[in-house]
Amino acid sequence: MNKYEKESRLLHGGDYNPDQWLKHPNILADDITLMQKAHINAVSVGIFAWSALEPIEGQFNFTWLDKIMDDMAKISVNVLLATPTGARPAWMSQKYPEVLRTNARREKMLHGGRHNHCFTSPVYREKTAIINEKLAERYKDHPALFMWHISNEYNGECHCPLCQQAFRIWLQNKYRDITTLNDTYWSTFWSHTYNDFSQIESPSPIGETGIHALNLDWRRFVSHQTIDFYKNEISPLRKLTPHVPVTTNFMGRFPGPHPFDGLDYAKFAKEVDIISWDSYPAWHNDYETTEFLASKLAFLNDYFRTLKDKPFLILESTPSLVNWHPINRAKRPGMHMLSSMACLAHGADSIMYFQFRKSRGSSEKLHGAVVDHDNSAENRVFKDVADVGQALERLKNIKGAATPAKVAVLFDLENHWALADAQGFTNNDKKYPRDVHAHYKAFWDKSIAVDVVTKDKDLTKYQLVVAPMLYVMDAKLIADLAAYVHQGGRLVSTYMMATADENDLVYPGTPQALRDVFGINILETDTLYPSHRNGFALGGKEYTTMDYCAVIETCGADVLAAYNQDFYKDTPALTKNTHGKGCAWFLAARTNADFLTDFYAPIIAELGLTIPPITSPPGVSVQMRENNSGKYFFVLNYTEEQQVITLAHPMEDMLTGQTIPQGKSVMNPYETRILM
Ligand code: GLA
Ligand code: ZN
Repeated sequence: MNKYEKESRLLHGGDYNPDQWLKHPNILADDITLMQKAHINAVSVGIFAWSALEPIEGQFNFTWLDKIMDDMAKISVNVLLATPTGARPAWMSQKYPEVLRTNARREKMLHGGRHNHCFTSPVYREKTAIINEKLAERYKDHPALFMWHISNEYNGECHCPLCQQAFRIWLQNKYRDITTLNDTYWSTFWSHTYNDFSQIESPSPIGETGIHALNLDWRRFVSHQTIDFYKNEISPLRKLTPHVPVTTNFMGRFPGPHPFDGLDYAKFAKEVDIISWDSYPAWHNDYETTEFLASKLAFLNDYFRTLKDKPFLILESTPSLVNWHPINRAKRPGMHMLSSMACLAHGADSIMYFQFRKSRGSSEKLHGAVVDHDNSAENRVFKDVADVGQALERLKNIKGAATPAKVAVLFDLENHWALADAQGFTNNDKKYPRDVHAHYKAFWDKSIAVDVVTKDKDLTKYQLVVAPMLYVMDAKLIADLAAYVHQGGRLVSTYMMATADENDLVYPGTPQALRDVFGINILETDTLYPSHRNGFALGGKEYTTMDYCAVIETCGADVLAAYNQDFYKDTPALTKNTHGKGCAWFLAARTNADFLTDFYAPIIAELGLTIPPITSPPGVSVQMRENNSGKYFFVLNYTEEQQVITLAHPMEDMLTGQTIPQGKSVMNPYETRILM
């Protein structure tokens, strides 16, 4: 058992940056009292502390950190000790300019910001290994050392000569000879044939962007190189502290159409001991309902949970507001508890914040924190945080509890990258993540557990797999899905399916294996202007289609619905095919949510997917986690109104200790109940 597995508490705390307050010992003393008042039991320390730890090259100062570690141990606060590589001291950039990042326009960046470094630079890797080793040596036996927090939100890319060289070597290992690369890249197009690997440059707005397979390889390489850098970071830690687990905080984005467009987290997940991510939804915005935003948060949580099929950590969230949304609203009363429990409901075993104490200067001085500039434990935000801390103490039996999902919705990052590049269909956002989320929401609305899977996952444990808009499908994914259906699985796919392979080379027609599975053949795709509509009828009800309408012919499938307009009027819009022991539906066009709700309802009924013993109106979500000690139902009112729920039998509310009777009861706006 590692230190995390031994900890029985759910984690509550956040980024703690005492290095900003070393000249204010009174503040550091207050921190200790305030942490206890806020029911904090975990802090991430030293995330950006490289300058404080190594103020001059080779001269280390751990005195301040020794004291912090000792202080935290005294109050039983776990330290997630950070490696400081998210930003670096000025002396390093000055003496070793190679550590500075070069952007895609081949401009060398100046010192400043964060993550402004080259992941390939031998100097940066060496300096990283040295500081990490020092930290591990010094604190390996310290009782406060609980987990390693590696760097911070790895992101971005570097196009310097060192990275170009590493990219070329990576390509050479992949393709072996330049002819294979040229064929894969279709580089005869525009005379872009390479004679030699040395001619290859990473994609750039001042150079090559039109070779889509090159773009994909570059993104793969950036993930590879970042993970490689991370491996270099953790190697001294693994050696010196094998009992201390390792995590790094991943990013999920709100707002914006691209939830995770940077690094391949499915690959990264294999290298960390526990998944963690930073969650910042824009609550109370003016463009979507609270309930809709909550479903997006749920989707991200389910994605991160499914990466390792295990509970994960929320390593950052805000107690109140952020400073980087277009508009930064404060959380309304009730929202802090609700938004925190929204994460627990989908598999989180912690609520941590950015940050413990608000800084007085620089760009994050107005970002929400547990302790505000007033240094008070009496303000609204502080009390909200303390309430969540207390709630987590009451919920500690939930730690490690699983989410039993029988439905999988597939999200593939490489497909997302390829669709972002593809010139065609609409050249505005093609809305792939939005589409996957729309299917997901049809289940979330009914409080049915869903895993958001990546394509490397074993699908056989699911009763239903939903894989919308898979423009890119490699041979393995096609074979896996075909085998899944053949063996009795149920599969749903849509327009754009298997347009191209993993190199973004277009298939000469719908691949045969998929024709067999779906009993259809895609003939062409009609892209509609935003105001255009087509539609179809199903079960006596009319549904609208928009954006994309694939024109298909059947080769074995039953037609469930046909288009009602245009040159493809009366041709199939929705089909179903039995294949082996399973079956597959093909939805040829984008629809509204009303169709997805109606379409999945009979499938949910037929599969007997577990519906909780709590009936709730729209906007009140019920999610279940379970372990040996019981089943826990998170009942979350994501609306601004009172709502009535109905219990099939009496249940205990773990937050209040009260029994909620069988039958109807009223929930207040934003109210949270966790029922046993
Ligand atoms: C990210 C970073 C933090 C902080 C927060 C602010 O998640 O990891 O250091 O900047 O954003 O929301
Ligand atoms: Zn570089």
